[in-house]
Amino acid sequence: MNDEALVLIEQEGPILRLSFNRPKALNALNAATLDAFTQALREVSSETRVIIVQGTGEKSFVAGADIAEMADLSATDAAAFAAKGHEAANLIEALDAIVIAQVQGFALGGGCEMALACDMIIAGEKAKFGQPEVGLGVTPGFGGTTRLVRQVGLHRALQLLATGEIIKADQALAWGLVNEVVAQDELSSRVQAIAEMIAKNAPFAVAASKKSARAAAETELHMANALEQQLFGLCFSTADQKEGMRAFIEKRKPVWSK
Ligand code: CAA
Repeated sequence: MNDEALVLIEQEGPILRLSFNRPKALNALNAATLDAFTQALREVSSETRVIIVQGTGEKSFVAGADIAEMADLSATDAAAFAAKGHEAANLIEALDAIVIAQVQGFALGGGCEMALACDMIIAGEKAKFGQPEVGLGVTPGFGGTTRLVRQVGLHRALQLLATGEIIKADQALAWGLVNEVVAQDELSSRVQAIAEMIAKNAPFAVAASKKSARAAAETELHMANALEQQLFGLCFSTADQKEGMRAFIEKRKPVWSK
């Protein structure tokens, strides 16, 4: 592993850890870090079942897009920079692997947005969330006005967006912004345990569940139900469905084909 890299990449069997690695800048996302993150997502191996996204250091997941780098951008360059954030977020959503944001410390602005794009967010008790962009004279640019509304509802999203207030982990939990809040020193092991639970399940079934659930979050119910029906049917063309059901009947653990 290259400790100097902007994004650290650690593969352990089916689990891939990606760490934003600019701790001195609280892992703020500059263009080069976003490029490195996007590249890592593009190169995810087929054996990868779960991706854990985290920040280096205890203080911050990501404290936002890099303000120093953005300060003098033109309108055109700023829109292109926002496109980089959206590209990374879109890749997270499109991957078969389940992506877990492991949030310790600050998840602000672009950091909150990157966590929101993940499939679940597990937070340490010291985690803090917010979209403080309005205090800098801008809107969120990586999906903060869009995914946040879908995640917590319009009124709560607008409270965060318009006030720029930074909320603590327990409030983020109460608002449904995060899945779980765990003690700081148990964060990594809890996320690892969730990752291992996911990796034990049938690969196609997990990927199809993600596809169907993500479609349900974005499309009309009857369309999403039609997709679920198709994906359920498709599962029965896999060896893993035969194996999973036979293993249940034979009272043994299934052995998946990949
Ligand atoms: N961009 C660039 N540098 C940042 C940064 C950011 N988003 N956040 C923190 N840093 C840097 C600080 O400049 C500081 O660097 P120096 O040591 O060289 O001065 C270092 O990280 C440590 O930060 P602080 O000294 O400020 O640490 P703190 O504990 O006093 O405060 C904080 C922590 C409250 C998170 C504060 O750093 C802060 O408010 N950061 C900015 C948060 C923010 O506004 N994020 C949104 C950015 S805009 C955005 O993300 C747009 C978008 O949607 C795409």
